[in-house]
Amino acid sequence: MTPMMRQYRQIKKEHKDAILFFRLGDFYEMFYEDAKVASRILGLALTQRGGAPMAGIPYHAASTYLRKFIKAGYRIAICEQVEDPKLAQGIVKREVTRIITPGTVIDEGVLEERENNFLVALLPPQKAGGEAGKDGVYGLAWADLTTGDFVARDLKGEEILDELTRLAPAECLVPEKALKEERERFLALGREISCPFTAVPDWAFERRGADELLREHFQVASLDGFGCSDLGPALGSAGAIIHYLKETQKTTLSHINRIRPYRSTSYLVLDRSSQRSLELCRTLHSGEREGSLLSILDRTITPMGARTLKGWLLLPLRDASAIEERASAVEEFVKESALRKRVRTLLERVYDIERITSRISSRRAGPRHLLSLAGSLSQLPQIKALLGECNSKLLMRFGEELEVMEDIRSLLERAIHPASPTTLTEGGIICQGYNEELDRLRALKDEGQKWLARFQAQEIKRTHIPSLKVGFNKVFGYYLEVTNAHKDKVPSDYVRKQTLKNAERYITAELKSHESEVLSADDRIKELEYEIFVEVREIVAKSTRRLQETAHIIAQIDLLASLAQVAEENGYTRPIVDDSLKLEITDGRHPVLEKTLLDERFVPNDTGLDGQATHMAIVTGPNMAGKSTYIRQVALIVLMAQMGSFVPAKRAEIGVVDRIFTRLGAADELYRGKSTFLVEMNEAANILNNATSRSLVILDEVGRGTSTFDGLSIAWAVSEYLTRHIRPRTLFATHYHELTELALVLSGVKNFNMAVREWGDEVIFLYKVVEGATDKSYGIQVARLAGIPREVIERAKVILNNLETEAVNSSGLPKFAPEGEKGKPAQLDLFARVPPLLEEMRSIDTDKMTPLEALLKLKELKEKAE
Ligand SMILES: Nc1ncnc2c1ncn2[C@@H]1O[C@H](COP(=O)(O)OP(=O)(O)OP(=O)(O)O)[C@@H](O)[C@H]1O
Ligand SMILES: [Mg+2]
Repeated sequence: MTPMMRQYRQIKKEHKDAILFFRLGDFYEMFYEDAKVASRILGLALTQRGGAPMAGIPYHAASTYLRKFIKAGYRIAICEQVEDPKLAQGIVKREVTRIITPGTVIDEGVLEERENNFLVALLPPQKAGGEAGKDGVYGLAWADLTTGDFVARDLKGEEILDELTRLAPAECLVPEKALKEERERFLALGREISCPFTAVPDWAFERRGADELLREHFQVASLDGFGCSDLGPALGSAGAIIHYLKETQKTTLSHINRIRPYRSTSYLVLDRSSQRSLELCRTLHSGEREGSLLSILDRTITPMGARTLKGWLLLPLRDASAIEERASAVEEFVKESALRKRVRTLLERVYDIERITSRISSRRAGPRHLLSLAGSLSQLPQIKALLGECNSKLLMRFGEELEVMEDIRSLLERAIHPASPTTLTEGGIICQGYNEELDRLRALKDEGQKWLARFQAQEIKRTHIPSLKVGFNKVFGYYLEVTNAHKDKVPSDYVRKQTLKNAERYITAELKSHESEVLSADDRIKELEYEIFVEVREIVAKSTRRLQETAHIIAQIDLLASLAQVAEENGYTRPIVDDSLKLEITDGRHPVLEKTLLDERFVPNDTGLDGQATHMAIVTGPNMAGKSTYIRQVALIVLMAQMGSFVPAKRAEIGVVDRIFTRLGAADELYRGKSTFLVEMNEAANILNNATSRSLVILDEVGRGTSTFDGLSIAWAVSEYLTRHIRPRTLFATHYHELTELALVLSGVKNFNMAVREWGDEVIFLYKVVEGATDKSYGIQVARLAGIPREVIERAKVILNNLETEAVNSSGLPKFAPEGEKGKPAQLDLFARVPPLLEEMRSIDTDKMTPLEALLKLKELKEKAE
């Protein structure tokens, strides 16, 4: 075996779990199994080297290949030559300089520009004392190596999936032991969120070590300064993240310079089902971004703005004044459209400062990155000046806080040549005039040829040999050549080096002393340029924190201007957001559907829940009448309002919502192997257990997944429970017309239906929500359209008529859900904290009362009602 292959095996032994990219000259080579995998995944031809299967890729094109490997779930260990092959004695020293995993890629060709790339660490509850417990606390931490974001939170088991869905991590770290013991569970979880799990040694998650590692990393005596003192297991997860990043990156992580504890009380919580079924970032059916709310709202110009917008969309705020602050900024950009246009034009020349900063800080930025940074920074003074003219609180603050980083920009403009190549070692990076020594060397190189010509002329004159000429060969460098005819004229200071057939070659001290400079100038230029570049990069790296702050402000300006742009183009209005329990919308529209309806006009609709007298709307109507669209649009309007955006409505007044719960179509859950009904019931249970009076509950066809009677009973009981015990604002779309009778027995429930017009035997959808219950489902009309024989249709009409009249009892109450009668499950009484007055009134027997008793009873009822 050759020494090189021995070296390869040595290194590969340390990186069995990764594909080893072994640098050989201008190629990364892969051998043995790695080569076979490469040929399969990249479609490369397999070659041989000393009997070993081999596949190679040119190093400068590595990122396209990397992308394929990472997408296929592989880890790559990059093994570089760490000494100059020219200076190496024996075999060139090689080391793994970086391990690239899905959660730690920083390469532009691999990353999605407009998405974060989160590395997550998840620590399940400790099993100490056999207390595995469903209620145990999990530790979660996440970081984006490309931006420096680093956050930790403790959370309950049932919140994990919601949170992981929001983060859409690229890779998830878990303790080795847990992964081994609960492999199936993690695999299933990994499939749900389509993310690979990576085992990390258990000790990396340990609290004590994590605390120490984090303090050392941040160079602080305690983590209290970050507000992390009350973190539970999440601290261990944060430690595991830093441990893993250090392990794989093998470089400074100075851009990860703070950790943020996540405060769930600041945000509107969206569970997994809401994130998906409201189609916030991708559609349910195709899974594409196109057609999602994000695709409508994202008109940002910079990638930083796009990433931040997505963050805001998935984490709307809960604090009315913070929401108002954002909305005021959007309003200013809406009203001042000239200002907005100018800001947006300037932003077009701003690159991804956030990611460039991370590269600089981890010493992986090249000349082009620094140039992009300089170009971006040069836009800032104008942006700052424009913000200086603003009146909204947020924009004014950004105007004050935005640092234009003049020092960095001028350094970069003086130092880095605008036509720099992408490589670091070929020179051409540093500007003329930045460094004296470099200028001297360059002049020397340029002068080299000219000097030789002058030298030749000078020597011809001195020796009177007209045919004397300067030449060069590899063996002894520059020489003077004299033909034999003039041999006798050669001066005594010429030293003979070589005799040819009809000429002799000489050198002189002068020629040699210049030679060494001329010859090595080029190499020295390249070396020096590299050194200067690194020096400049170091200076910029010292300003990492300032650059991050700047990037953060620019991202928000971009996104606020984008929200304004969308608001203007689509005719949105500014919602009123306060601490009431109102949900009052005039002429609300569905932000996505209104844009995609081609032939028809979207019909706007009102919503009127005051959260007190009316908190639940039951929406009935035939198939295709627009029920689902309507209730979704309400949820989307609330969400948009709370992220700070304008909304598609003529007017909207919204009391802040703490959580949005949805139970919408279950088709997408089928692949999970759970029955539709089970999924429905899980979600219903989640709502009943977690909703508060501030929540918004959107129910679509609850109970559809089972037999009519079961489904109806469950739907009824769920509504009843919500009304009696929680009273969240609720919109319930349903086919079960029987549910409209809830309004008869429960206070706070109101019926609405989707208007249709009958035209002969046909139905025309008006898509207009009107008050009141529908009495018809039009199922029979639809059946007729389908070609059911006339006789059957007629018979069905008769049966329907009977069913409709029989459905209520003599006092107008629904027969199938009698109030206060036998057969009512005892358990419900346990929950009945406040018996509704209605029930009490119904139990009064006026025939057996004296007028005085009646008056007293009335007083008592009145007091209860107040
Ligand atoms: N407000 C509206 N204006 C115009 N068209 C609408 C409106 N609402 C719904 N539509 C159209 O009607 C179609 C059906 O709407 P939707 O799915 O909301 O009906 P649905 O009542 O929930 O039906 P199903 O009972 O079958 O679930 C939509 O795809 C859209 O094309
Ligand atoms: Mg529907």
